[in-house]
Amino acid sequence: MHIYICKHKNKRAYQHSPERKKEYTMASKGIFLSGLTFIFIGILELAFISFPAEAAIKKYQFDIQVRNVSRLCHAKPIVTVNGRFPGPTIYVREGDRVLVNVTNYAQYNMSIHWHGLKQYRNGWADGPAYITQCPIQKGSSYNYDFNVTGQRGTLWWHAHIFWLRATVYGAIVIMPKQGTPYPFPRPNMEFNIVLGEWWNTDVEEVVRQGTKMGLPPNMSDAHTINGKPGPLFPCSEKYTFAMEVEPGKTYLLRIVNAALNDELFFGISGHTMTVVEVDAVYTKPFTTQTILIAPGQTTNVLVKANQVPGRYFMATRPFIDVPLPIDNKTATAILQYKGIPNTVLPSLPQLPAPNDTEFALSYNRKLRSLNSPQFPANLPLKVDRKLFYTIGFGKDSCPTCANGTRLLASLNNISFVMPQTALLQAHYFNLTGVFRTDFPDKPPTPFNYTGAPLTASLGTVHGTKPSLSKIAFNSTVELVLQDTNLLTVESHPFHLHGYNFFVVGTGIGNFDPVKDPAKYNLVDPIERNTVGVPTGGWTAIRFRADNPGVWFMHCHLELHTGWGLKTAFVVEDGPGPDQSILPPPKDLPAC
Ligand code: C2O
Repeated sequence: MHIYICKHKNKRAYQHSPERKKEYTMASKGIFLSGLTFIFIGILELAFISFPAEAAIKKYQFDIQVRNVSRLCHAKPIVTVNGRFPGPTIYVREGDRVLVNVTNYAQYNMSIHWHGLKQYRNGWADGPAYITQCPIQKGSSYNYDFNVTGQRGTLWWHAHIFWLRATVYGAIVIMPKQGTPYPFPRPNMEFNIVLGEWWNTDVEEVVRQGTKMGLPPNMSDAHTINGKPGPLFPCSEKYTFAMEVEPGKTYLLRIVNAALNDELFFGISGHTMTVVEVDAVYTKPFTTQTILIAPGQTTNVLVKANQVPGRYFMATRPFIDVPLPIDNKTATAILQYKGIPNTVLPSLPQLPAPNDTEFALSYNRKLRSLNSPQFPANLPLKVDRKLFYTIGFGKDSCPTCANGTRLLASLNNISFVMPQTALLQAHYFNLTGVFRTDFPDKPPTPFNYTGAPLTASLGTVHGTKPSLSKIAFNSTVELVLQDTNLLTVESHPFHLHGYNFFVVGTGIGNFDPVKDPAKYNLVDPIERNTVGVPTGGWTAIRFRADNPGVWFMHCHLELHTGWGLKTAFVVEDGPGPDQSILPPPKDLPAC
């Protein structure tokens, strides 16, 4: 066991990049500051816990602070981690234990989610407010303590309360175990590319206005790449991300979509990308000009600096195939060959048309699990529990709202109501009256889900308590998510906490329970934690419910989550000694 030594084999690679160097130093500094206490705790722990030979402990301090930040010629106070926007990157190695002490100095309640980390038996460290924990109140701290097991690649972390993830987010880089190479040629260097959205005004205020009116809040004013909108926006001189490359070298880009509401295309002028991993799972490599990435998803690509040395734009802009208003502006960053002066004008990449459904479908079809002997796709072939959830919009009457109505969203006609106390505690301590476990396995009334637009109210239920679905430990679950034309069809990136799942099928129109399963990919389906349900279509996923706890599942478009497009699974404890939820940590915040 290494006590608190942040040893990156690829330290040399980091040194080439000023961004990386800064982060590396910050992480090491964090370690030294708290090193003494840590060694003490470490020695105590040695007596009780035996770690696998290579496991290390990575410790981070996250101070939630308000800072003034300026973009697009507009300055405003934003909530940050350690004053940084985007926040710091977490570097770990597969098998490590991570301790992130979050101290809240901001006026908002806070909670942080480690998006995509499986948190085996350890929902206490998962983070969604009122689902697995009560929020961290102003002046308080909470220590997120988790192991990174069986995952390697790129994930990310973000605030999981209100819309605070607009500025509170960062990347998680999980290096493979010492001595385990990547299943692709080793890149010379790597960069994080974290895509986001920027509002010129206070995001929480924008949301408050929207909710008051019963309308979608104002859309963002720009997209960003590593927090920067790039030179197509005013006042961008300082706010352009540039990445220096050397001819002939290969670069690994760790791309994260941290945007709140937009699925994004991303491309690099003149260069192709080879996709090698999504959501911290290796894929069969394929080459593409453009990637498509939904909020919540991550994509690792290899890029070879094999073009005429120059300056090339990287660009991102939304994919949306329904006529809804959306921030359609293009954010850019620069891929710059070493030695090329800044005066050379870069060219823009050709991205697909904003409504290019065909591209979206064919891109997603290319995503396949690597499914090698070393990294098999452990897909459940037999299904114990079949679930069919419809996604719909609806309206509630709201006399004080702009149109006399308020928009809401539902799964199986149930719009989720947030509890006052965390569901995981309620489950663990058997508190009654906090939630119900009557979430239906299928919609109450079947209808032609994707026929003509339906405006008739289905009488969406919200009730007073959240309605969850109970799942037996270790059962295999198949969930079909079906978009509907209630008010409008739209695509929805669904994220499941606590698990990866396999995407066995997807299609346009109504799911056919007889014909469609015959077309499932049961060989090398993509394994991930967030998947798009196509506009007016369906997606089928499978997972084995081997992680006991209360696990949130929701649309990762913050707009839709806020309207109630969410639910949670209560996965029961198993019979074995190591198959039940771990006891809660002592510092778990109270509501
Ligand atoms: Cu990345 Cu529940 O979210």
